[in-house]
Amino acid sequence: MIEDSLSAAAVTDGLATRFIGHEVICYPSLPSTNDVAKRRAGKGAKEGTVIVAEEQTAGRGRIKRRWLSPPGSIALSIILYPPLDYLPSLIMVASLAVADSIEQVTGLKAQLKWPNDVLVNGKKVCGILVESDVKGDKVDCAVIGIGINVNLEVSEFPQIAPMATSLSQELGRKVSRRALVQSLLFQAEKLYLALADGDSVFKQWRDRLVTLGKKVQVSSGETTCKGVAESVAPDGSLLLRQPDGSLLKIVAGDVTLRQ
Ligand code: BTN
Repeated sequence: MIEDSLSAAAVTDGLATRFIGHEVICYPSLPSTNDVAKRRAGKGAKEGTVIVAEEQTAGRGRIKRRWLSPPGSIALSIILYPPLDYLPSLIMVASLAVADSIEQVTGLKAQLKWPNDVLVNGKKVCGILVESDVKGDKVDCAVIGIGINVNLEVSEFPQIAPMATSLSQELGRKVSRRALVQSLLFQAEKLYLALADGDSVFKQWRDRLVTLGKKVQVSSGETTCKGVAESVAPDGSLLLRQPDGSLLKIVAGDVTLRQ
């Protein structure tokens, strides 16, 4: 039987972290865990507080997109108060933590697609939205929002079905969301603490990106660029070698692999 409860006690019980997930607040339904997390951070929530929702009614994705979080998925946000120079690395921490926890809990192979998608068998299984409030050179708060398609039938959601999948669909059985959340919080803390040791998290993230070395098309707002995804910079941006030989630095965009 799959232990599938995401109550605060289910998440914290046996969780071997130093601070992430010591405070967990679960909601049956809310608009967006990131919005609640930012509000709670503004009221002085402890670092590492995690907001979890069984369902989001107005989940937000990157570039003002919607994010679907029906029951059976995981939607959570982690509140952090990092130094300013950690901000570009939070997306690396989050995507590596998701990939590692998926592999540990399910045995499926997880891939990272620049900038922040986690794929299984080439399809998107997780989205990450990092948001921060910065005043001058001080971070008021940062929120890592993570949505994972765990136990759901993606074909019931035609808007995402062509490019998305779920863990249960890939595995042919249900996955314990509790085990996945606990593993995710543990990995996220390990990687977050490792940011103090220089560029090891950046190197792990770079070496796991399936995008690098491939011919890609990158759309960013109204602009689309083509080229070879040559590398990434420590600030997380993509370095695209264009057909004319020049190297273009792209801070945000959507990557499509070209054949
Ligand atoms: C994307 O791929 O566009 C990012 C999706 C991020 C979704 C998560 S679900 C938890 C958190 N709350 C939100 O409203 N969004 C993030």
